[in-house]
Amino acid sequence: MIEILSVFGTRPEAIKMAPLLAELGRRSDVMSSRVCVTAQHREMLDQVLEVFGITPEIDLDVMTENQSPSRVTGAVLESLEGILAERPPDLVLVHGDTTTTMAASLAAFYHQIPVGHVEAGLRTGCRYCPFPEEMNRVVTDSVATFHFAPTRAAAVNLLKSGVSKDSITVTGNTVIDALLDVAGRPHHEELGVPTDGRVILVTAHRRENHGEPLENICHALRDVADAFPDVRVVYPVHLNPNVQRVAHHVLGDHERILLLEPLSYVPFVRIMKESFFVVTDSGGLQEEAPSLGKPVLVLRNETERPEAVEAGTVKLVGTDRDAIVEEMTRLLTDDAAYIAMAEAVNPYGDGRASVRIADAIACEFELPGARRPAEFEPEAPGRRDELTRQETGG
Ligand code: UD1
Ligand code: UDP
Repeated sequence: MIEILSVFGTRPEAIKMAPLLAELGRRSDVMSSRVCVTAQHREMLDQVLEVFGITPEIDLDVMTENQSPSRVTGAVLESLEGILAERPPDLVLVHGDTTTTMAASLAAFYHQIPVGHVEAGLRTGCRYCPFPEEMNRVVTDSVATFHFAPTRAAAVNLLKSGVSKDSITVTGNTVIDALLDVAGRPHHEELGVPTDGRVILVTAHRRENHGEPLENICHALRDVADAFPDVRVVYPVHLNPNVQRVAHHVLGDHERILLLEPLSYVPFVRIMKESFFVVTDSGGLQEEAPSLGKPVLVLRNETERPEAVEAGTVKLVGTDRDAIVEEMTRLLTDDAAYIAMAEAVNPYGDGRASVRIADAIACEFELPGARRPAEFEPEAPGRRDELTRQETGG
């Protein structure tokens, strides 16, 4: 029996760790799973804990108003000190690239506890893009003993940075496990969002977009809403005050732009399914929307998730007002351009990432019945077309 402590603190980490926690729970005969949340996010984390029925054993409750990464790092390191010293687990699991991820992995390292990094190996290659997440990834991957890379490209990034091949497992991304779970759930409550006309779903929160880039983004959304009377912009606004202030100032009074509080994951996925396309600077949406066949315009100049860009479903548009308006207008007016981006592709997962990660952990710790997982293989591009042709005899 090994003891695993999963440490996470923000909305996206919680969504992507939830299916893995469920899988660890199914293996309770050989793995004892405990959860520590840093609560780097409070309300947005709690929404996810409720959706997936996760009750943390430890809650560090570190969030403060308009916090800086330095403050979060200090608070997480200090609070984990006693917890790890008092009851050191056999393995600490962290996810992704937040300050919680980096600080928790470092805290485990200081106690010489092995770290497993879920969603390891993502890179843009630019140290400030995104900021500070790129450096959080580099630090966490250096500290980690086990690397769960979502795709083969992520595994190659790890190899290039000197990580040993033996420590890497290509698993697929657990976000697809989470998405498949909630996309099939009934949603009984009224959405409260008009879905007549074409809905453009927007999220934006990246630190490097705060200030002028976010102002440009909001003005572009307003330009498009003004130009297309059948369009509704639905924008659940991140609780970061730097985002709230700009979004409400520029967009608050537009009759067809709906600014919402952050939505719980189930209604959010439903709106994503009903949307015409997605405009975002989020990481997770670049993975989820392509699998639902929704074109994604990314409000950044680079991405650590090149797979859906290569498949044609995601396009990088940056934060220039005119460029955003031009690309949104193209999707609203050019059927061929829209259809070319709206093919459902799934380069990120098959819903079994959590099983592969749990299998890999079992192997590393030589637990009874452990089997080395087969590497995640994405559907080959165009395979759907090929299947359709065969089925129709075309
Ligand atoms: C953080 C992550 C980012 C991730 C994003 C997901 C870092 C450096 N950044 O963004 O990688 O994409 O979360 O959303 O770790 N706030 C609330 N309630 C909440 C959440 C936030 O009020 O539930 C407000 C607080 O004032 C808080 C502020 O938003 O201080 C910023 O939160 P923070 O986690 O620091 O956000 P980011 O660093 O922008
Ligand atoms: N999400 C949500 N409600 C919202 C906006 C986003 O549940 O109002 C989900 C979304 O589906 C994705 C995750 O939150 O799974 C993305 O989180 P965020 O954009 O905060 O972080 P990032 O992915 O950029 O790290």
